[in-house]
Amino acid sequence: MADVLTADPAGAAASLLARSGRPEPVIELADAGKTYRTGSIEFEALRGIDLEISAGEYVAIMGPSGSGKSTLMNIIGCLDVLTRGSYRLGGEDVSELDEAELAEIRNRRIGFVFQQFNLLPSLSALRNVELPLVYGRVQRHDRKTRATAALERVGLGDRLQNRPGELSGGQQQRVAVARALVGEPALLLADEPTGNLDSTSTLDVLALFDQLHAQGRTIVLITHELEVAERAARIVWVRDGVVHTDEVTR
Ligand SMILES: Nc1ncnc2c1ncn2[C@@H]1O[C@H](COP(=O)(O)OP(=O)(O)OP(=O)(O)O)[C@@H](O)[C@H]1O
Ligand SMILES: [Mg+2]
Repeated sequence: MADVLTADPAGAAASLLARSGRPEPVIELADAGKTYRTGSIEFEALRGIDLEISAGEYVAIMGPSGSGKSTLMNIIGCLDVLTRGSYRLGGEDVSELDEAELAEIRNRRIGFVFQQFNLLPSLSALRNVELPLVYGRVQRHDRKTRATAALERVGLGDRLQNRPGELSGGQQQRVAVARALVGEPALLLADEPTGNLDSTSTLDVLALFDQLHAQGRTIVLITHELEVAERAARIVWVRDGVVHTDEVTR
């Protein structure tokens, strides 16, 4: 995997800047299509997406419900594969990576925050946040320290032992954000990360994303809220499975 996705995101972005004067694209989708098949019914959720996102960019994806935003995010995060077109991540053609390489990328390079929090209900907040580190073979003591720090960072230092069912929706989403951050990923993908948060928690999470962006991380965030999207430097509007507009906001 090219260095845009390796451990030191700020350094990697800086070295790319130095080499070419502009950061290289970390995400490159060309004529990307995704057709879902349900029995004999086909649905074309992505109908030819052309999109490049460079290392260190902060991009918001907006669009109506059902327009293909989550589908696109799943493709970018290597959770699903295209049915046509190409996707290059960090310079590599994702279709040529095997399952072990994809799992490695998902676990070490990408942090996910999903629309549904996807927390394990039987585990405490702390154990949920530790999980990516378990898969990443981090030692137990180090895991606990890092997971505690990540939860403190999202304001949940006093809820470490609570299970998801004992937390509010906003608190669960913050646990999910902590889990996405704990591995210090170079690429953060967030699907409606503030959808269930009150305005104070929304601002907290957005401030956290600003910090991560300032550290050189690449962030792609889906949102329905313009105020959230405006924190990003670029807004990509998806409509009916294609990029409708792509605007740099500052
Ligand atoms: N696994 C699936 N099988 C069949 N159709 C699917 C599947 N997942 C998504 N779709 C369809 O693909 C389209 C795009 O879905 P997607 O979840 O990407 O929309 P979205 O833009 O994220 O919407 P929302 O804003 O409501 O989250 C929808 O019409 C949806 O019904
Ligand atoms: Mg969605």
